[in-house]
Amino acid sequence: MNDMPVRIMQFEFDAEELKKNIPDGALNLGLSMTLPYIEPYVIRTMREGLKHTKDKEVAAEVKQFIGQEAQHFRQHRMLNDLLRDCYPALAGLQEIEDQMEADFRRFTKTKSLKFNLAYAEGFEAAICATARTAIETIDINAPMSDLSRLFIWHLTEEIEHRTVSFNVYKHLFGDYFYRVIVGMYGQYHFFKYVFKFAHFIAKHSPPKVKGAADSELKALGSYSLLFLSLGKWLGTLMPWYNPAKLVLPSKHGEFAKIYSELALETRG
Ligand SMILES: [Fe+2]
Ligand SMILES: [Fe+2]
Repeated sequence: MNDMPVRIMQFEFDAEELKKNIPDGALNLGLSMTLPYIEPYVIRTMREGLKHTKDKEVAAEVKQFIGQEAQHFRQHRMLNDLLRDCYPALAGLQEIEDQMEADFRRFTKTKSLKFNLAYAEGFEAAICATARTAIETIDINAPMSDLSRLFIWHLTEEIEHRTVSFNVYKHLFGDYFYRVIVGMYGQYHFFKYVFKFAHFIAKHSPPKVKGAADSELKALGSYSLLFLSLGKWLGTLMPWYNPAKLVLPSKHGEFAKIYSELALETRG
Protein backbone atom coordinates (compact mmCIF):
# COMPACT_ATOMS: atom_id res chain seq x y z
CA MET A 1 0.00 0.00 0.00
CA ASN A 2 2.63 2.50 -1.17
CA ASP A 3 0.24 5.44 -1.23
CA MET A 4 -0.37 5.12 2.54
CA PRO A 5 3.02 4.27 4.06
CA VAL A 6 3.39 4.31 7.83
CA ARG A 7 6.29 6.72 8.33
CA ILE A 8 8.14 6.40 11.61
CA MET A 9 9.25 9.93 12.37
CA GLN A 10 11.60 11.36 14.93
CA PHE A 11 10.84 14.93 15.89
CA GLU A 12 12.70 16.96 18.45
CA PHE A 13 10.64 19.69 20.02
CA ASP A 14 12.27 22.57 21.76
CA ALA A 15 10.50 24.22 24.72
CA GLU A 16 11.79 27.71 23.88
CA GLU A 17 10.70 27.31 20.25
CA LEU A 18 7.30 26.15 21.45
CA LYS A 19 6.92 29.15 23.77
CA LYS A 20 7.40 31.47 20.78
CA ASN A 21 4.24 29.91 19.33
CA ILE A 22 2.11 30.64 22.38
CA PRO A 23 -0.42 32.22 22.32
CA ASP A 24 -0.40 32.95 18.54
CA GLY A 25 -0.43 29.29 17.56
CA ALA A 26 -3.07 28.38 20.16
CA LEU A 27 -5.51 27.01 17.57
CA ASN A 28 -3.02 24.48 16.24
CA LEU A 29 -1.90 23.61 19.74
CA GLY A 30 -5.57 23.17 20.70
CA LEU A 31 -5.90 20.76 17.80
CA SER A 32 -2.79 18.90 18.96
CA MET A 33 -4.29 18.51 22.46
CA THR A 34 -7.32 16.64 21.09
CA LEU A 35 -5.36 14.08 19.07
CA PRO A 36 -4.21 11.63 21.79
CA TYR A 37 -7.93 11.18 22.58
CA ILE A 38 -9.76 11.31 19.27
CA GLU A 39 -7.25 9.29 17.24
CA PRO A 40 -7.20 6.28 19.63
CA TYR A 41 -11.03 6.41 19.55
CA VAL A 42 -10.98 6.36 15.73
CA ILE A 43 -8.47 3.47 15.84
CA ARG A 44 -10.69 1.47 18.25
CA THR A 45 -13.65 2.13 15.97
CA MET A 46 -11.80 1.04 12.83
CA ARG A 47 -10.48 -2.09 14.59
CA GLU A 48 -14.08 -3.00 15.39
CA GLY A 49 -15.06 -2.27 11.78
CA LEU A 50 -12.20 -4.48 10.59
CA LYS A 51 -13.76 -7.49 12.38
CA HIS A 52 -16.84 -7.16 10.16
CA THR A 53 -15.05 -6.34 6.91
CA LYS A 54 -14.97 -9.08 4.31
CA ASP A 55 -13.38 -7.02 1.55
CA LYS A 56 -9.62 -7.74 1.52
CA GLU A 57 -8.67 -4.44 -0.07
CA VAL A 58 -10.65 -2.43 2.50
CA ALA A 59 -9.09 -4.51 5.31
CA ALA A 60 -5.54 -3.84 4.03
CA GLU A 61 -6.27 -0.11 3.88
CA VAL A 62 -7.60 -0.12 7.45
CA LYS A 63 -4.34 -1.62 8.70
CA GLN A 64 -2.29 1.15 7.04
CA PHE A 65 -4.75 3.76 8.34
CA ILE A 66 -4.37 2.47 11.90
CA GLY A 67 -0.58 2.45 11.53
CA GLN A 68 -0.53 6.09 10.42
CA GLU A 69 -2.96 7.29 13.10
CA ALA A 70 -1.05 5.49 15.85
CA GLN A 71 2.10 7.38 14.88
CA HIS A 72 0.24 10.70 14.75
CA PHE A 73 -1.16 10.71 18.26
CA ARG A 74 2.11 9.46 19.79
CA GLN A 75 4.05 12.35 18.28
CA HIS A 76 1.38 14.87 19.30
CA ARG A 77 1.35 13.46 22.83
CA MET A 78 5.07 14.27 23.13
CA LEU A 79 4.39 17.84 22.02
CA ASN A 80 1.43 18.15 24.40
CA ASP A 81 3.54 16.94 27.34
CA LEU A 82 6.05 19.67 26.58
CA LEU A 83 3.28 22.26 26.21
CA ARG A 84 1.77 21.46 29.63
CA ASP A 85 5.22 22.06 31.15
CA CYS A 86 5.77 25.44 29.43
CA TYR A 87 3.85 27.47 32.01
CA PRO A 88 2.48 26.23 35.36
CA ALA A 89 -1.12 27.24 34.52
CA LEU A 90 -1.10 25.02 31.42
CA ALA A 91 -1.09 21.95 33.67
CA GLY A 92 -4.83 22.71 33.93
CA LEU A 93 -5.25 21.41 30.35
CA GLN A 94 -5.39 17.94 31.88
CA GLU A 95 -8.91 18.57 33.15
CA ILE A 96 -10.24 19.15 29.60
CA GLU A 97 -8.24 16.14 28.39
CA ASP A 98 -9.94 13.98 31.02
CA GLN A 99 -13.38 15.18 29.86
CA MET A 100 -12.57 14.36 26.26
CA GLU A 101 -11.20 10.93 27.13
CA ALA A 102 -14.35 10.16 29.16
CA ASP A 103 -16.56 11.16 26.19
CA PHE A 104 -14.74 8.85 23.80
CA ARG A 105 -14.63 5.94 26.25
CA ARG A 106 -18.40 6.37 26.65
CA PHE A 107 -18.94 6.43 22.87
CA THR A 108 -16.94 3.21 22.42
CA LYS A 109 -18.81 1.54 25.27
CA THR A 110 -22.38 2.68 24.63
CA LYS A 111 -22.73 3.68 20.96
CA SER A 112 -23.21 1.42 17.95
CA LEU A 113 -20.45 0.69 15.45
CA LYS A 114 -22.52 2.59 12.88
CA PHE A 115 -22.49 5.71 15.09
CA ASN A 116 -18.78 5.46 15.86
CA LEU A 117 -17.85 4.92 12.20
CA ALA A 118 -20.04 7.85 11.09
CA TYR A 119 -18.36 10.02 13.76
CA ALA A 120 -14.91 8.83 12.62
CA GLU A 121 -15.71 9.63 8.99
CA GLY A 122 -17.07 13.07 9.95
CA PHE A 123 -13.76 13.79 11.70
CA GLU A 124 -11.66 12.43 8.83
CA ALA A 125 -13.64 14.35 6.19
CA ALA A 126 -13.32 17.65 8.10
CA ILE A 127 -9.60 17.16 8.73
CA CYS A 128 -8.97 16.25 5.10
CA ALA A 129 -10.87 19.36 3.93
CA THR A 130 -8.75 21.54 6.23
CA ALA A 131 -5.54 19.72 5.28
CA ARG A 132 -6.18 20.26 1.57
CA THR A 133 -6.54 23.99 2.17
CA ALA A 134 -3.56 24.22 4.55
CA ILE A 135 -1.11 22.28 2.37
CA GLU A 136 -1.58 24.79 -0.46
CA THR A 137 -0.53 27.68 1.78
CA ILE A 138 2.80 26.18 2.88
CA ASP A 139 6.04 27.25 1.28
CA ILE A 140 7.97 24.03 0.67
CA ASN A 141 11.31 25.83 0.68
CA ALA A 142 10.75 27.90 3.84
CA PRO A 143 13.00 27.02 6.79
CA MET A 144 10.97 25.28 9.49
CA SER A 145 11.34 23.65 12.86
CA ASP A 146 10.21 20.16 13.87
CA LEU A 147 7.11 21.82 15.31
CA SER A 148 5.91 22.79 11.83
CA ARG A 149 7.15 19.51 10.36
CA LEU A 150 4.96 17.58 12.79
CA PHE A 151 1.82 19.33 11.56
CA ILE A 152 2.72 19.15 7.86
CA TRP A 153 3.61 15.43 8.09
CA HIS A 154 0.29 14.83 9.82
CA LEU A 155 -1.71 16.83 7.24
CA THR A 156 0.05 14.97 4.42
CA GLU A 157 -0.92 11.57 5.83
CA GLU A 158 -4.49 12.67 6.59
CA ILE A 159 -4.87 13.37 2.86
CA GLU A 160 -3.26 10.01 2.02
CA HIS A 161 -5.74 7.98 4.07
CA ARG A 162 -8.81 10.12 3.20
CA THR A 163 -10.81 7.24 1.69
CA VAL A 164 -10.43 4.63 4.42
CA SER A 165 -13.10 5.40 7.05
CA PHE A 166 -15.47 6.46 4.22
CA ASN A 167 -14.99 3.07 2.53
CA VAL A 168 -15.46 1.07 5.74
CA TYR A 169 -18.68 2.93 6.59
CA LYS A 170 -19.94 2.54 3.01
CA HIS A 171 -18.98 -1.16 2.98
CA LEU A 172 -20.74 -1.95 6.28
CA PHE A 173 -23.67 0.50 6.36
CA GLY A 174 -23.81 2.87 3.37
CA ASP A 175 -26.55 5.00 4.97
CA TYR A 176 -25.86 8.50 3.59
CA PHE A 177 -28.19 10.59 5.79
CA TYR A 178 -27.03 8.92 9.00
CA ARG A 179 -23.36 9.47 8.06
CA VAL A 180 -23.91 13.16 7.39
CA ILE A 181 -25.99 13.82 10.52
CA VAL A 182 -23.76 11.89 12.95
CA GLY A 183 -20.68 13.16 11.10
CA MET A 184 -21.78 16.76 11.68
CA TYR A 185 -22.46 16.01 15.34
CA GLY A 186 -18.94 14.53 15.51
CA GLN A 187 -17.45 17.64 13.92
CA TYR A 188 -19.29 19.87 16.40
CA HIS A 189 -18.13 17.70 19.32
CA PHE A 190 -14.53 17.60 18.10
CA PHE A 191 -14.17 21.30 17.23
CA LYS A 192 -15.80 22.27 20.52
CA TYR A 193 -12.81 20.66 22.25
CA VAL A 194 -10.27 22.19 19.81
CA PHE A 195 -11.63 25.67 20.65
CA LYS A 196 -11.85 24.87 24.37
CA PHE A 197 -8.18 23.84 24.45
CA ALA A 198 -7.13 26.80 22.26
CA HIS A 199 -8.99 29.25 24.50
CA PHE A 200 -7.43 27.75 27.63
CA ILE A 201 -3.91 27.92 26.13
CA ALA A 202 -4.36 31.56 25.05
CA LYS A 203 -5.89 32.55 28.38
CA HIS A 204 -3.25 30.89 30.57
CA SER A 205 -0.11 31.98 28.72
CA PRO A 206 1.78 35.27 28.87
CA PRO A 207 0.63 37.69 26.16
CA LYS A 208 2.69 37.95 22.99
CA VAL A 209 5.69 40.21 23.43
CA LYS A 210 5.32 43.38 21.35
CA GLY A 211 7.42 43.26 18.18
CA ALA A 212 7.97 39.49 18.38
CA ALA A 213 7.84 37.65 15.04
CA ASP A 214 4.68 35.77 14.05
CA SER A 215 4.70 32.20 15.24
CA GLU A 216 5.31 29.36 12.77
CA LEU A 217 2.12 27.68 13.90
CA LYS A 218 0.06 30.79 13.29
CA ALA A 219 1.38 30.92 9.74
CA LEU A 220 0.47 27.26 9.32
CA GLY A 221 -3.10 27.45 10.43
CA SER A 222 -5.50 29.98 11.84
CA TYR A 223 -9.19 30.69 12.19
CA SER A 224 -9.17 32.14 8.66
CA LEU A 225 -7.89 28.81 7.33
CA LEU A 226 -10.96 27.11 8.80
CA PHE A 227 -13.12 29.70 7.04
CA LEU A 228 -11.31 29.08 3.74
CA SER A 229 -11.97 25.33 4.14
CA LEU A 230 -15.74 25.80 4.43
CA GLY A 231 -16.39 25.16 0.72
CA LYS A 232 -14.41 21.91 0.80
CA TRP A 233 -16.16 20.87 4.01
CA LEU A 234 -19.60 21.55 2.44
CA GLY A 235 -18.56 19.30 -0.44
CA THR A 236 -18.13 16.40 2.00
CA LEU A 237 -21.83 16.65 2.94
CA MET A 238 -23.10 16.13 -0.60
CA PRO A 239 -24.65 12.78 -1.63
CA TRP A 240 -22.10 12.45 -4.45
CA TYR A 241 -19.08 13.05 -2.17
CA ASN A 242 -16.39 10.44 -2.66
CA PRO A 243 -12.92 11.16 -1.22
CA ALA A 244 -11.37 8.92 -3.89
CA LYS A 245 -12.39 11.49 -6.50
CA LEU A 246 -10.95 14.57 -4.78
CA VAL A 247 -8.46 16.68 -6.65
CA LEU A 248 -5.41 16.78 -4.37
CA PRO A 249 -3.30 19.87 -3.75
CA SER A 250 -0.38 20.03 -6.15
CA LYS A 251 2.12 20.16 -3.25
CA HIS A 252 0.79 17.01 -1.61
CA GLY A 253 2.94 14.61 -3.63
CA GLU A 254 6.06 16.67 -2.88
CA PHE A 255 5.40 16.64 0.86
CA ALA A 256 4.69 12.90 0.79
CA LYS A 257 8.11 12.36 -0.81
CA ILE A 258 9.88 14.73 1.62
CA TYR A 259 8.45 12.96 4.69
CA SER A 260 9.17 9.49 3.30
CA GLU A 261 12.79 10.58 3.00
CA LEU A 262 12.83 12.14 6.46
CA ALA A 263 11.30 9.06 8.11
CA LEU A 264 13.49 6.74 10.16
CA GLU A 265 11.61 3.88 8.54
CA THR A 266 8.49 3.39 6.38
CA ARG A 267 6.14 0.42 6.67
CA GLY A 268 3.72 -0.81 4.03
FE1 LIG B 1 -4.09 11.56 12.20
FE1 LIG C 1 -6.99 10.46 9.89
